[in-house]
Amino acid sequence: MKRLIEAINVTKEFPIRKDWFGRTVEKLVALKDVSVYVKEGETLGVIGESGCGKSTLARTILDLEKPTKGEVRYLGKNIHSLRSGEYKNYRLNVQAVFQNPQNSLNPRMKGWEIVTEGLRINYSYSKKELKEKAKELLELVNLPLNALESYPHQLSGGQKQRLAIARAVALKPKLIVADEPTSALDVSVQAQIVNLFLDLQEKFGMSYFFISHSLPTVEAVSDRVIVMYKGYIVEEGKTEDIIGFPLHPYTKLLIESTPVPQPGLKKLTLPDSNGGKIPKQGCPFYFRCSYRKKECLSFDMKLVNVGNGRKVACLLFL
Ligand SMILES: Nc1ncnc2c1ncn2[C@@H]1O[C@H](COP(=O)(O)OP(=O)(O)O)[C@@H](O)[C@H]1O
Ligand SMILES: [Mg+2]
Repeated sequence: MKRLIEAINVTKEFPIRKDWFGRTVEKLVALKDVSVYVKEGETLGVIGESGCGKSTLARTILDLEKPTKGEVRYLGKNIHSLRSGEYKNYRLNVQAVFQNPQNSLNPRMKGWEIVTEGLRINYSYSKKELKEKAKELLELVNLPLNALESYPHQLSGGQKQRLAIARAVALKPKLIVADEPTSALDVSVQAQIVNLFLDLQEKFGMSYFFISHSLPTVEAVSDRVIVMYKGYIVEEGKTEDIIGFPLHPYTKLLIESTPVPQPGLKKLTLPDSNGGKIPKQGCPFYFRCSYRKKECLSFDMKLVNVGNGRKVACLLFL
């Protein structure tokens, strides 16, 4: 299968303090030399605790953030060197669903206008045709037809997220980047939304870049998983391998601390005995790791291939 989207050696720095002359004096490195790909038809799950860079990676793939170093490729081409028609094609084919539908839906637009906005902008449908399309889209995501004329505030959280999902699938994209799409919803609704993602993938065969703090959710949707820690990918591999036999000490901690096999019940917040401090060099997990040795402080966090499509960034596996 072809690689739909790829991030190649992406580093993303945010300036967080500037001096009087506007020069950056302090920066935060949100992504460190991250390389990742999503193939046609597959789901890549992304896990890691809050602040590790998941959303920044998603936003970089969506071209909402520019990499400081490295590049994002769509079907093998750097998105920043695409001709305008190719760039438009990339934008149509890579859609997003965000965590909070409250913020991502225009409060002044009705349901039918929201789900057909992309169709209206990119194609020349009449109003009647758009309303027909909207009806089909609402049926596709199991929304009642009265949502056509409803404003977002008249819908429940789960219904709003269904609307956001309908908007994303309206253009029949090849990839949907879903950034914690169930985290803001009631626990009882989360599984329904996960099932909707699975149904839609079965119908249309699109790929997902799926971020979630819920391991059971990631397990349910993903073919492969990447595990992130402090801007690095520390482990990647097939879902059942990562969940069944975590190798990186951080992945182990992450999985052992998620005892409840129900979506959304456990947030990925782990005991952090060191107040989030990381060493100046070497493995960022050093202070929390029970296997640490002093060589870890000069380890460059390169992912090492350990077979079966699996990679780990840890000295233990060199
Ligand atoms: N626009 C920004 N300006 C400064 N720092 C940012 C910005 N966006 C994200 N960050 C920082 O980058 C790091 C990664 O953030 P994020 O990608 O949102 O993590 P996650 O989605 O895994 O919780 C965090 O330390 C966050 O504070
Ligand atoms: Mg995030």
